[in-house]
Amino acid sequence: MEITLSSKPLLQSTADVAIVFFLKEQIKSQTALKAFPAETKTLIQTVIKNCDFRGEPDQCFHVHTQGSPRTIILVGCGEKEKFSAEKLRLALSLALRSANGISAKEVAVSLAFDCGLSFDVITTAIAETAVMTSYKFDMYKTEKKPFVVGTVIIAETPSDKIKTLSSAVLTGKTLGELCASTRALVNTPPDVCTPEYFANHAQKLGKEVGFDVKVFDEKQLKAMNMQGILQVGSGSDHPPRLVVAEYKNGTGKKIAFVGKGVCFDSGGLDIKPASAMDTMKLDKAGASCVLNVLAGCARLKLKGHYLAVMPLVENMPGNDAYKPGDIIVTRSKKTIEVLNTDAEGRVILSDALYYAAEQNPDSIIDVATLTGACIIALGHSIAGLMGNNDSLALAIKNASAKTGEKVWELPMDDEFMEMIKSNYADVKNVVSNTPGSGGGTITAAKFLSIFVQDKPWVHLDIAGPAWASEEYGYQSIGATGYGTRLLLQYALDLNK
Ligand code: BES
Ligand code: ZN
Ligand code: ZN
Repeated sequence: MEITLSSKPLLQSTADVAIVFFLKEQIKSQTALKAFPAETKTLIQTVIKNCDFRGEPDQCFHVHTQGSPRTIILVGCGEKEKFSAEKLRLALSLALRSANGISAKEVAVSLAFDCGLSFDVITTAIAETAVMTSYKFDMYKTEKKPFVVGTVIIAETPSDKIKTLSSAVLTGKTLGELCASTRALVNTPPDVCTPEYFANHAQKLGKEVGFDVKVFDEKQLKAMNMQGILQVGSGSDHPPRLVVAEYKNGTGKKIAFVGKGVCFDSGGLDIKPASAMDTMKLDKAGASCVLNVLAGCARLKLKGHYLAVMPLVENMPGNDAYKPGDIIVTRSKKTIEVLNTDAEGRVILSDALYYAAEQNPDSIIDVATLTGACIIALGHSIAGLMGNNDSLALAIKNASAKTGEKVWELPMDDEFMEMIKSNYADVKNVVSNTPGSGGGTITAAKFLSIFVQDKPWVHLDIAGPAWASEEYGYQSIGATGYGTRLLLQYALDLNK
């Protein structure tokens, strides 16, 4: 996707399609049409009247002109008071899909959109939305229907701002591309994306972009006492890996990102039913996210010291699979009683989080498709946020308000820790196999908290938002790339 800045008026661009945003208030005042020629104005006013265009967020109409651009797309943005960067992303993606539907190759939008957001925020949002909306997982389609919009011109950019805003374009493009890379990795089928494939992919990416990648194989994991990772992985013919990526530039905080990397979650011996298993390649969404966040830190040359720790396994019911009743001695020496092999994420994360804490970071942020309970609590668009440090949680919430990747904090009261005490080991990996104990997302987070050694830590349960069962806004069907822009925004904010 090409994004260019131009100071020309919107309707004088070379594009096939011009997109015009309308806040509800602007339907009456028609400030957006101020500079348009009289005949174009009349055409647009006719559509506003005849199609009942009120500037509602889901309204999108085409106006056909005699000249160039051949089509003007009018898109609603809702009330000015409720407008945000996310509303802009949704309005633009709707208009872009609509432009794509009429095979437009070049599309122009105007920066002179009086919506209360800064030029910088608008520009970044336009660039990232264009990139994200054009992504589609079609590698295995023999007949592809590619996204044809290949250029977005940001018109009416004040000429003295073109230089400074080109860095906003670059940031937006990078954020969008990294989100798309996360989607692509998560969408990679489980017959291809084994732990070994993921590790090789990380190594290649590290070479390409310029960050360090270490891969620990089963032998090394044994030597490192990473029995949590090893035992979850023991039921598969594809052995586990631990990948640690690192990027350091100048001085700044040391941040450790940790991501759940279950390349396929069959449930293990506590096998999942078909309806819950068919999307379980998504269970590597956390690891895919943090890998691309690290690539983003390197591409944007952020100051600071960043780590991404990715435990990679397949959770399978093979001959040597771990079993309910097993007691695992983790790297931390804390012991885990396995009561359900489908609660595998917290078991591999016990070693990964402990390893991350050993690196003595200023903060740890983990991302994991950890519990179905989080989908029951918060649905498919919001991640559960938990942790042990209010100021770190606040920094993530602030980043979330900017990127539109929603989070909601759940409480971490002591009684949830009581619920996971084991009769025979230090902790058990599920409260009970009889449904109804409740608080499944929080007890999972409490389990993780044991291994972070009191380092400032936030846990994001992304079981809901990691996957979309239908195309929506800039989201494609399948993996969403959730968390990638969020954590990069967090890192960008640290750099301010
Ligand atoms: N990977 C799943 C969680 C999940 C479910 C992610 C649906 C995305 C969509 C996780 O490993 C799991 O199976 N969790 C169990 C835990 C239970 C056994 C305590 C669950 O949520 O049912
Ligand atoms: Zn599971
Ligand atoms: Zn899982």
